[in-house]
Amino acid sequence: MPANPDDFTVTPYAVEGEIDYDRLLEQFGADRLTDAQIARFPEPVHPLVRRKVFYAQRDVEPFLEAATSGQTHSIVTGRGPSGSMHIGHIAPFYFAKYLQDQTGALVYIPLSDDEKYFAKDKSIAEISTYTRENLREILAIGFDPNRTRIIIDTTDADVIYPLAAAFATEVTQSTVDATYGTPENIGLSFYPAIQATHLLLPQLVEGPHSTLVPIAVDQDPHVRLCRDIAAKQRYDVMKPGALLSKFLPSLEGPGKMSSSSDTPSILLSDDRETVREKVRTYAYSGGQSSVEAHREHGGNPEVDVSYQFLYYFFEESDERVEQLAREYRDGALLSGKLKEIAATKIADFLEGHQKRRAALGSLDEELRPYRITANERQIARQRVGYSDGLLI
Ligand code: TRP
Repeated sequence: MPANPDDFTVTPYAVEGEIDYDRLLEQFGADRLTDAQIARFPEPVHPLVRRKVFYAQRDVEPFLEAATSGQTHSIVTGRGPSGSMHIGHIAPFYFAKYLQDQTGALVYIPLSDDEKYFAKDKSIAEISTYTRENLREILAIGFDPNRTRIIIDTTDADVIYPLAAAFATEVTQSTVDATYGTPENIGLSFYPAIQATHLLLPQLVEGPHSTLVPIAVDQDPHVRLCRDIAAKQRYDVMKPGALLSKFLPSLEGPGKMSSSSDTPSILLSDDRETVREKVRTYAYSGGQSSVEAHREHGGNPEVDVSYQFLYYFFEESDERVEQLAREYRDGALLSGKLKEIAATKIADFLEGHQKRRAALGSLDEELRPYRITANERQIARQRVGYSDGLLI
């Protein structure tokens, strides 16, 4: 791990300790998202932005300028398919879909199955199974196939690999060590060139334009490294911007919703009863230990996970979240009731998602309109000087 004077660590491969989100920005060199920037998002501004769950950014202004003036603009947000997806994983995708509906953004969605072989103790067979499962979750969101591309690193290696090879020469091992900590294997040493490829791919296909990467803050090192590659100006690309989010809390309390701790996460496949049961049993409560004490002293919404879920993603109405916070603090709203409200909202959301997923046909068929076309592959490869046509 990089030397860190604080008692928390945030890299793409480790998130530990009590995160100080402001200190993290100083370490990473990103900036807070300002009210003036929020006001430049198209109306209605998504709750994740309005409530500053996306709390920091790099170059968000040129992106908003392009997005609101009808110029080409794109969003890249991906998934490392190392397990089943939980509610914390899906927020950036729904956010991307929301912006696509508002501004016609191109959306590129890379699945880094290679990264997960490198980083996780899982077999290629397991990762492939999760890749297929995760793809169905992403397809269920309902992106516009004319404006969306879904890329799988190993399946689409014919386009990813030549580009990553070009970018890899721009990155030294010591930069990787300084940015991520010493990688465990040479796969992880190389992988940053792959993720840089993801972030530049829309420009390599469509020509230079503004790209935004909405992602949890632990992925910022990838954005930074990619921006350094873009800045060398060997290729005609703009530096991708980023919108960086805090972590959706896990049921056991604030911090990253982890797939690996003992407390379960709420999965996209959970039915209503399972959601209720998980929230009732595990959601950390900011309430008092008895009803009498709660009525007298009130609860603390800041640490209450049910409230945080509603605030972060599941309750759209600002008035309603404020009302819930007020009544909880006053002691009028009890923990059990707040849990019930959160579980219902989450289950309603999941029901919609699951209905769309159940309506999907075979994966190959559904994926086809989202795959990068032969022509797009060729354009992207040629952009880094690869002369084509022998193999395909
Ligand atoms: N590395 C990301 C993860 O582990 C997944 C990912 C791959 C990604 N490519 C991306 C995220 C591009 C955002 C943008 O979760």
